[in-house]
Amino acid sequence: MRKKVSVIGAGNVGGTLAQRVAEKGYADVVLVDIIEGLPQGKGLDMLQTGPITGSDAKVIGTNSYEETANSDIVAITSGVPRKPGMSRDDLVLTNMNIVKSVTEQVVKYSPNCIIIMVANPLDAMTQLALHVSKLPRDRVFGQSGILDTARFRTFVAQELDVSVEDVHACILGGHGDTMVAIPRLTTVGGIPITELLPQETISKIVDRTVKGGGEIVSLLKTGSAFYAPAAATAQMIESVLLDKKRILPCAVYLDGEYGIKGVVVGVPAKLGKNGIEQVIELKLTPEESRALRKSAEAVEELVRVMRLG
Ligand code: NAI
Ligand code: 2OP
Repeated sequence: MRKKVSVIGAGNVGGTLAQRVAEKGYADVVLVDIIEGLPQGKGLDMLQTGPITGSDAKVIGTNSYEETANSDIVAITSGVPRKPGMSRDDLVLTNMNIVKSVTEQVVKYSPNCIIIMVANPLDAMTQLALHVSKLPRDRVFGQSGILDTARFRTFVAQELDVSVEDVHACILGGHGDTMVAIPRLTTVGGIPITELLPQETISKIVDRTVKGGGEIVSLLKTGSAFYAPAAATAQMIESVLLDKKRILPCAVYLDGEYGIKGVVVGVPAKLGKNGIEQVIELKLTPEESRALRKSAEAVEELVRVMRLG
């Protein structure tokens, strides 16, 4: 029997994500939105893509959660995206109400699912879903690091004129201005970029990476990035559904790892059929550790705003 993936929010990220998962054919997809007709229309369109792409996955769109029952994975993309001039953190109060009510519905119908958060501010929304769902941290985590490292990898590959596939990047921390890029662990064919590029170039690339989401918002003007975010979330879903045990950067609730406790931030993790199967602890320099703690504090500040109690 095919697995079941529900995608909450049929907007730019949710629609694109649902399409990516459906095309792979290894899971049926349920697309949920509050706008009547939107998920139904997109779902039907995707279903009719199957004969062309060779996927037998069933895709349905709905405004209710009954059809999501017994999902293996639920990706939550329902939330307002930022507009030019806004930071992701400006979305916290609006999106916390959406994410709270969505998570309640999700676990009502799929009490054993794995939740992958996408809505921003990502780390705070992941922590909210963890709190509301009462699921263990292995089953509630967020997408951000694959996107942030993909941006970093793109810019490094452009600079060195090499394949993006041979660039591996390391970014830790929250999905925001305090994210911590680690150039000495960012490699091209195994060689750290600190040996390949001057410091000034690395600093420019890191800066563009950190501001990468804002760069796209300022171009689009009416929303934020969605192709790469959807591809990143699909990669996490695949690692879980196929039990690939990939080591991917994920937003995870830390319980002492990296000397941080009780807050969600981005760290490398092993992703398999049980969700987060291991948090990978990298050896950091004192400066990197300080930057990561600062990033965790920024997330804690947002979590305080939500008064989770
Ligand atoms: P969008 O506006 O295109 O889509 C959001 C959808 O959510 C809309 O269709 C809306 O009707 C729906 N929605 C709102 N309230 C809902 C509810 N209570 N139940 C079900 N559906 C509901 O926005 P987009 O571009 O898809 O972004 C979605 C969220 O993902 C935003 O918060 C954005 O900031 C975040 N995002 C996060 C990324 C990441 O790396 N973690 C990357 C890109 C976006
Ligand atoms: C991004 O980084 C919107 O968080 C999203 O593009």
